[in-house]
Amino acid sequence: MINYIEKNKIFVLETNNTHYVFGIDKTGYNRHIHWGGKCSIKDYEFTDINGENSNNSMLDEYRQEITPFGSTMYRECDIKAKFADGCREISMHFENYSINGNTLCVNFKDDFYPLWITLNYEVYEDYDIIKRYVTLKNTGNDNIVFDRIFSAEFSLPSVEPYTFKNTNGAWGGEFLQTETVLDGGSLVYESRRGASNHNQSPYFIAHRNADENSGEVYFASLAYSGNFKVSASRDNYSVTRISIGMNDFDFSHTLTPDETFDTPPVYCGRANGFGEMSRNMNRFCVDVLMPKQFNDKPLPVLYNSWEATGFDVNSAHQTELAKIAAEMGVELFVMDDGWFGKRNNDCAGLGDWFVNPEKFPNGLDELIENVNALGMDFGIWVEPEMVNPDSDLYRSHPDWAYHYDHRNADELRNQLVLNMTRADVQEYIFNCLDELLKNHNIKYIKWDMNRPFSQTGAENLDDPQMYSYLHTMAVYSIVDRLKERYPHVQFESCASGGGRCDLGAISHYDQVWTSDNTDGIDRMTIQKGYSLLHPIKTMRAWVTDIEGINKPCSLDFRFNIAMQGALGIGGNLIKYSAEDLEICKRNTAFYKSIRNTVQFGDLYRILDIEKDEVLCNEYVSADKNKSVIFIAANGTRFYKKKFNLHFAGLDMKKTYSFALDGTEYKKGGAYLMNVGIPIYVRGVDYNRAIVLMSVDEK
Ligand code: GLA
Repeated sequence: MINYIEKNKIFVLETNNTHYVFGIDKTGYNRHIHWGGKCSIKDYEFTDINGENSNNSMLDEYRQEITPFGSTMYRECDIKAKFADGCREISMHFENYSINGNTLCVNFKDDFYPLWITLNYEVYEDYDIIKRYVTLKNTGNDNIVFDRIFSAEFSLPSVEPYTFKNTNGAWGGEFLQTETVLDGGSLVYESRRGASNHNQSPYFIAHRNADENSGEVYFASLAYSGNFKVSASRDNYSVTRISIGMNDFDFSHTLTPDETFDTPPVYCGRANGFGEMSRNMNRFCVDVLMPKQFNDKPLPVLYNSWEATGFDVNSAHQTELAKIAAEMGVELFVMDDGWFGKRNNDCAGLGDWFVNPEKFPNGLDELIENVNALGMDFGIWVEPEMVNPDSDLYRSHPDWAYHYDHRNADELRNQLVLNMTRADVQEYIFNCLDELLKNHNIKYIKWDMNRPFSQTGAENLDDPQMYSYLHTMAVYSIVDRLKERYPHVQFESCASGGGRCDLGAISHYDQVWTSDNTDGIDRMTIQKGYSLLHPIKTMRAWVTDIEGINKPCSLDFRFNIAMQGALGIGGNLIKYSAEDLEICKRNTAFYKSIRNTVQFGDLYRILDIEKDEVLCNEYVSADKNKSVIFIAANGTRFYKKKFNLHFAGLDMKKTYSFALDGTEYKKGGAYLMNVGIPIYVRGVDYNRAIVLMSVDEK
């Protein structure tokens, strides 16, 4: 709900548990008032800021929704531009507003120059989530050149320093959490690589001593897969502010006469503990944000051939794998890299999206038909944004890769990035994928992207420094167009594993390849980081032959971990023993019986592998009639992991039945949450999955 207090021009955005309050003060400036617990609406007002002196400007103390560059505001600003006459200051003042249901637009106008700035809000009451973005409009006859356009500024309420969570990851170690106390100065999380990356994440999570179940947590996540920046600071008056948006590093945008520009949106919220934060965001993404073709459908169990066959793919071998996969209960067979052009290794072929006639002399359909005859759908790997210099595409269009005429184009994994800001490149990629989907019964595209950008000349653009934004939008638009034409095809966002995982990707793709690291032990930590602000349903997790690089773990153990997301299998099935195959079959069938609860349920992270030596995650269905709990540990110390497991998220009044280690239980939700059941974790390879069903008491 959106309330407006006319008397003192204050907007109160109300979600189930939160008030987000800002207004327009006497001078026409936007001012943030409150983000936190609900108060009586009539109590909200502006407080005066006193104590201005020659070195301390009142304006600099403002807490704002958006801070323009200029005047005596020296803190981080959000919008910075140069007008045609060289003026670099924006002076924005309130003009009017409109409320339409749960949408609010507040319009500001520059005092002199023809620039309008709109602050947009959408309130998702039941999810405790608010969407924010900024619209710029040039109503004059001259260009306005921006070198910074962030999407939102936030101010946090407490005078105490906040701890900021983000990721400090890498390829194979995505989503590893980092925590930093910000007691002064500033803190930046960003990507300068052209796209979002494995290292830092386009979000902030700020808290003071919060844990899974308690403590106020403030968070905001940018829905954008290009260069981003999250810049947090705490000033000498103990105010913590955060700006978030497209990175201003190597950025410039010219707003031409009559042009309007919308920033990428930010989704923000406030929760009681990290658990509630994740559950709110999970539900919001599944119900609201994700593409509508598959958001409400359980994702299939897939098999992916990459770790089994590498580039060495052909119809007979893939069919052999497919037969075994089908026996295990796999529903979607995905052929990975190697099927196109002269792709025998990673040195050649990217860009030539035509079936390799030596590997598939009878075309792709022979394999697809085999896979379909086995009762499975067929999926395929592509890396559309890339080109190998050793490819027909590059030989005919060397200018299609980002480059500078007099600089060497740096290769990474022997490949260059295509300049997706060019219309001809976009059409080429769209047409290649369109042909592929039109001519073959393909139900799934794994869209990969295996390197950051360099030599981003983009001289085709008036604003070459908009390349990251325009490239990102081109990727989204091709995926959207293909989805519209082929609504039965699922898309997966992959970037050497989890290098393009953000709410922008999740708004366009149905799932994400979480990490190339499929080590069951490492995955416990990677998946926890993923689950913080990304929906579980999108988290692809494979069981492979990596038995644990440092600590071996069994096939059952690896299934236990992979089943906590969207299950996949990626091992070399041809080498599996009859016993291994049985284990795969049993686990796949089990996963199918619980996947709705995992993919659509509420996640409670009960025990943390890093902190507690034991991982325990519980998923509870929306109606609280079913729950599945995964417990896993690989070598606990000192014989001390005997504890009562307190379940979470159940209905206090319902009775649940389940079995564990041969003991049958039938207990009330209140008992299970308050008293719990005894667990004795022992051995190097402990893994259990418990399924609770509510029983009718009548
Ligand atoms: C990337 C992906 C892998 C696989 C390879 C193929 O590394 O993350 O899963 O698809 O590319 O080259």
